[in-house]
Amino acid sequence: MAIKWNESLAVGHPEIDKQHQELYQRIDNLLEACNNGKGKEKLSELIDFLGEYVIIHFKTEESIMKQSGYPKYQEHKLAHDNFIARFKELKQQNIEEGGTVTLIIATNHLVIDWLNKHILSVDKEVGRFLANK
Ligand SMILES: [Fe+2]
Repeated sequence: MAIKWNESLAVGHPEIDKQHQELYQRIDNLLEACNNGKGKEKLSELIDFLGEYVIIHFKTEESIMKQSGYPKYQEHKLAHDNFIARFKELKQQNIEEGGTVTLIIATNHLVIDWLNKHILSVDKEVGRFLANK
């Protein structure tokens, strides 16, 4: 299994799309590591990277929304905050239990499912708003 960013995920804002591509690349690296039996080592690396990068990425989107006067800013920010909270739980679990198979699957699930849905619905809505301004 591989996960690749593709054009159907394009929001239309170069910076946002670039950051999404980076996120997909990193997650794909973890999946590849899992296939090679190195998931445990890679999980902590991915969690550390995502913990920092997701915050940078959300801040980028939030400042773009603010600057453009996007009407659903609060709602969108709440979705970001909820993801960060859920992600922190996984991070804590990884510290306490180490990279179990269950945790690797849960991390992949959370990140991939959430990202796909979030980009295709809420982020694309921002893209359309920006395009019509
Ligand atoms: Fe977003």
